[in-house]
Amino acid sequence: MKKYIILTLLIVLGVLAGCGKKEEVAKEDVYVRNVINVGFSQLGAESDWRVANTESMKSSLSLDKDFNLLFDDAQQKQDKQIMAIRKFIQQEVDCIVLAPVTETGWDTVLKEAKDAKIPVIVTDRMVDVEDDSLYTAWVGSDFFKEGRIACEWLKRYAELEGIEPSELNIVDIQGTLGATSQIGRSNALSESAAENGWKLLESVPADYAQTKAKEVMQQLLRKHSDINVVYCENDNEAIGVIEAIEEAGKTAGSDINSGDILVISFDAAHSGLNMVLEGKIALDVECNPLQGEEVAWLIRDVTAGKDVEKYTYIEESVFSTYDKINGIVADKQAFDVTILTQEILDGRKY
Ligand code: AHR
Repeated sequence: MKKYIILTLLIVLGVLAGCGKKEEVAKEDVYVRNVINVGFSQLGAESDWRVANTESMKSSLSLDKDFNLLFDDAQQKQDKQIMAIRKFIQQEVDCIVLAPVTETGWDTVLKEAKDAKIPVIVTDRMVDVEDDSLYTAWVGSDFFKEGRIACEWLKRYAELEGIEPSELNIVDIQGTLGATSQIGRSNALSESAAENGWKLLESVPADYAQTKAKEVMQQLLRKHSDINVVYCENDNEAIGVIEAIEEAGKTAGSDINSGDILVISFDAAHSGLNMVLEGKIALDVECNPLQGEEVAWLIRDVTAGKDVEKYTYIEESVFSTYDKINGIVADKQAFDVTILTQEILDGRKY
């Protein structure tokens, strides 16, 4: 249901110049705008990526773009997201946007939204529901593909550096268990490890959070003296992991043959790319958080009754300073590797 709000703007204080006399001109400008009411349940604020994603959504769904955004941060808790969606239904919003913390557990509340005839757009991670008509569209990243790109790069790196597959001793610092981004990236690594004969020593979740990742890495370093690759499922984890590596008297870098631990990361947020420039993150696969504009267009179309694409994948890049690999092929698709410079980083939006 579309709602109409009347915004009355009183524009006062026109100063007439020229005659030396100040005159106040009052003008009443009344106009009617068709504003779309949107309830957005954001899963949390756990990472730099998430903060950039929230900013993108808020700026794309702003009043000056004819949206009235009701925003809720669920602090990584699914029950809070469910409560927020129920509240949006009571408030009779025109559309609900959901960035779900994990994939499962959404059937009941999304059915309630459907019964209330409120379209739902899912963004970032996916929902795993029995009936996919419970949501109208999804916008986000291909997380499995991101993981495959990282693994293909690692394979090429090992070949170029003369490292045998069985000499790669990898640990996986996973994201939030059950999140599509975790499932895709973890699966890509475990499949690639099995295909290539790499040793995947352990996979441990750290909820995409820097402090937790640091603690997890400290434990892993105590347990395994031979780790030479850490696959961090986001940049904040990579930053925590690098702190743990350095505090243990080791180095994060691209020269495994000389004892460096190679750190692979995802997101390509500013904080992560700074570490790429410092040579501490060897590869950063982008996960693009700037999804607001795409979501805004979907909402406009859906609320106007138009048909929309069910799935939209956001474009992403790959960054490194290791300049022996400029392109890779993952799952038959070719990807450029951007050799990162300060200038490139300065030109990025997040
Ligand atoms: O689902 C996307 C992931 O969630 C991003 O990689 C991570 O930084 C975020 O918290």
